[in-house]
Amino acid sequence: MPIAKPDEIDKVLYTHEQIQDRVKELGQQITSDYHKLLGNEIWDRPPIAVGMLRGALIFTADLIRAIEIPMTIDFMTVSSYGNQTEPGAIKVLKDLTESVAHRHVLIVEDIIDTGHQLAYVRKTLLAREPASLKTCVLLDKAPRREVSVPLDYVGFKMDKDYFVVGYGLDYAERYRNLNYVANLSPKAIK
Ligand code: IMP
Ligand code: MG
Repeated sequence: MPIAKPDEIDKVLYTHEQIQDRVKELGQQITSDYHKLLGNEIWDRPPIAVGMLRGALIFTADLIRAIEIPMTIDFMTVSSYGNQTEPGAIKVLKDLTESVAHRHVLIVEDIIDTGHQLAYVRKTLLAREPASLKTCVLLDKAPRREVSVPLDYVGFKMDKDYFVVGYGLDYAERYRNLNYVANLSPKAIK
């Protein structure tokens, strides 16, 4: 049974294979960078991956298995797309379980759009005085950026303003379990 009706998907932008290949590359890059940054410290103070729920659930699960260094994992939920009428309205709905003080933190996010959400998460975590803070996003919807956010790792840079679903990303909570990323058809948008 298909997960989406054919007329709900305009086109597949990134196939399952393309995503898997890119995630593997990101994992290798992150592995090498943390090796250089931390050396033997990696054993005493492994970096912590902070997955942003719910969109980055699948990306986080795949990425951490492509990173070949010791790591711990935690999750955070901030107010989601659509509930937020203005940047000031962003808030933490589910906070981390672990402390990130003196830890090397890697924020893992599904997509950066205007940038307000990731800027807010960075500010919130920086206030907790981590040893370092890096960001990894699967998709960078660059044309819509309103605030600049330092991105250390980007899966795919989108040159068009598509509303995308799949591989964790939703529209009205649907399509998260597609194993590819697609542009949602206007027919599917209510
Ligand atoms: P920003 O604050 O505008 O950068 O919004 C980022 C958040 O909005 C992401 O974490 C997603 O949850 C959501 N979002 C932005 N664009 C899309 C999209 O095309 N599809 C699904 N969710 C999106
Ligand atoms: Mg999100």
